[in-house]
Amino acid sequence: MEIKIRSANPQDAERIACVHVDAWRAAYRDVMPRDFLAKLDKKQKTAYWNKSLSHQGIGKYIVAEYEGIVEGFAVFGPARDKNLTGKGAGELVALNVNPTLWGKGIGTATLQHVIEYFNQNSLKPVYLWVVKSNARAIELYKKHGFEDEGKSKIDNSHSGSPINEIRLILTSN
Ligand SMILES: CC(C)(COP(=O)(O)OP(=O)(O)OC[C@H]1O[C@@H](n2cnc3c(N)ncnc32)[C@H](O)[C@@H]1OP(=O)(O)O)[C@@H](O)C(=O)NCCC(=O)NCCS
Repeated sequence: MEIKIRSANPQDAERIACVHVDAWRAAYRDVMPRDFLAKLDKKQKTAYWNKSLSHQGIGKYIVAEYEGIVEGFAVFGPARDKNLTGKGAGELVALNVNPTLWGKGIGTATLQHVIEYFNQNSLKPVYLWVVKSNARAIELYKKHGFEDEGKSKIDNSHSGSPINEIRLILTSN
């Protein structure tokens, strides 16, 4: 099946919100509180994404269409981590795919596009934060050359409960 990657626009907000909520519920079932995941609201997320996509700043937003429907998205841009800001580094902020379509190459195609963007814009190194127990995502990133830097943090900002995250870095791009 053909996977098409393109820039996101405000009309994509509803599909992005659906992918976002469904991917989190599937991936973080054993990581985030059940109640938090159950209360994720697609309408509220649509409003959030509509606002973000209507006022795009330096961050980039792309979507992956599968059979003509938005089934994945990524957000990326210049580094936000203090020790890497202003040094030409790039950060992958988010990558999510509709869980009913996991394993079909949508994540790979989207990630390749992100890496290509960083290459073309000479942004390096590229890094990302990933939940330590998220083996599926970590396998994907490692396949594309990301390495565990040995840096970790406890992040409370997603669900209010502490989540262990590790930083992966790509130095070869
Ligand atoms: C991580 C994620 C984006 C991958 O998307 P995807 O469309 O399934 O990715 P792909 O189909 O391209 O598969 C990529 C790799 O995932 C791994 N993978 C695929 N199916 C798998 C399975 N059943 N079990 C374990 N790993 C699997 C493999 O390494 C695969 O590479 P391969 O096809 O060359 O073997 C998706 O699972 C997702 O949205 N997860 C929830 C959100 C998330 O974790 N985002 C990353 C946060 S940093």
